[in-house]
Parts: sequence; C-alpha cells; structure tokens
Amino acid sequence: MVLKLQKYHEWMQDVTLREATASEPLTLEEEYEMQQLTFIILARQHHSASRSGEERESRMIGDVNMFLADGFEGDAECEIMIADPIDRGKGYAGEAMRIFLSYITTRLNIRPSQLIARIGNTNQASIRLFQTLGFVIERVVDVFEQVDLRCSRFSVDEWDVILAEREYDSSSLKQ
Ligand SMILES: CC(C)(COP(=O)(O)OP(=O)(O)OC[C@H]1O[C@@H](n2cnc3c(N)ncnc32)[C@H](O)[C@@H]1OP(=O)(O)O)[C@@H](O)C(=O)NCCC(=O)NCCS
Repeated sequence: MVLKLQKYHEWMQDVTLREATASEPLTLEEEYEMQQLTFIILARQHHSASRSGEERESRMIGDVNMFLADGFEGDAECEIMIADPIDRGKGYAGEAMRIFLSYITTRLNIRPSQLIARIGNTNQASIRLFQTLGFVIERVVDVFEQVDLRCSRFSVDEWDVILAEREYDSSSLKQ
C-alpha cells in the first residue's frame, strides 16, 4: 500500500490531473491523513506462465475515491482518475466506477441520493462519464469553474448486476 500511495502521489504532481480532478497539491504525509476510501484500478495485461500455472499480471492505471466530508449521512463525493491518457477511452473508468458505486451503495449503505461528483466545467469526458452512470447536473459553480452532479437513480440494480459478476470479464472492455 505504501508503494501504491507513492505512485498515486507521483501522478498527482501533474497539474493537469490535479485540475481535472479538482484536487489540491498535497504532501505525501497529507495524502496519508486524508479521510477517504480509495481503490486502485488495476488493468489485467496478459497471462504468463509460472511454476504454479498461469498467472494474471496487472498494472496500476488509476484510482477511484469517495470522500465523506460530513460523515456517513452527508454527501459522498466520488472521483475517478485514469492517469495515463493512453489508457483512456478503453472503458476502464466506466467499469471501475460501476463496481465502486455498487460496492459503496450495497456494502457501505450509502444511498444513491448521497452520491455527488464535482468536476471542472470543461471536463466533458468526466461529465459524460457520470451522466452515463445516472448523475445529473445539480448546479454550476462559475466562481470555481465547476459543475456539481448528483446521482438521480432510485435503485442500484445496474451496478448490482456488475458486482455480482464476481469474475469480471475483461474481454468486454473496448480494445
Ligand atoms: C474522465 C476519465 C476518468 C474517463 O476515463 P476513461 O477510462 O477514458 O472512460 P471510459 O473509456 O470508461 O468511458 C466511459 C464514458 O465516459 C465518457 N467519456 C470518456 N471519455 C470521453 C471523451 N473524451 N469525451 C466525451 N465523453 C467521454 C463517455 O460517456 C464514455 O462512455 P461511452 O464510451 O459509452 O460513450 C479520464 O478521462 C480521466 O482520468 N481524466 C483525467 C482525470 C479526471 O478528469 N477525472 C475525473 C474527475 S471526477
């Protein structure tokens, strides 16, 4: 986990990524202190032979987070990043966010109406991503050049289905 946080910290030195995710520059120590739920997104690469048989290799491509600034009953701000542009547009963020939303709504009992996303107003890729997941624009904050979206789903059926597919089939990703 230490290595993963260091890698994440390296990614967040990039000003473009910080702007896209509306993040403040933090020291590594501050990253450790953040009260948030973070999962690292791994892309399965290929199968390789090993003594114990076939093994799947994977590499870190991004992360998905939830912040609970006002406790378990307040808004749950969701954020996602696919760090390297070469990994974007392949369906990774969509799949990772569906699994993540399913997890936090079913296992942590966060209600869909608590889910929000705060996104830079020119970040069309992210705005579209959240809209495809059932989020709608709630307000435009011109002073911060930001749009706030809130989940408009009443049920988590679609996210549940994906979580139930225990062995996620990476062949469904766009090539
Ligand atoms: C936003 C981001 C997470 C999308 O990741 P991605 O893996 O490329 O997204 P996916 O390939 O899974 O696409 C999912 C959906 O997002 C939308 N989308 C993704 N890239 C898009 C683009 N360039 N333009 C418009 N819509 C886009 C589409 O609706 C897409 O669904 P579709 O292909 O069925 O139409 C990625 O561009 C990123 O990490 N950007 C920098 C960090 C950031 O902006 N994070 C968001 C802050 S919350």
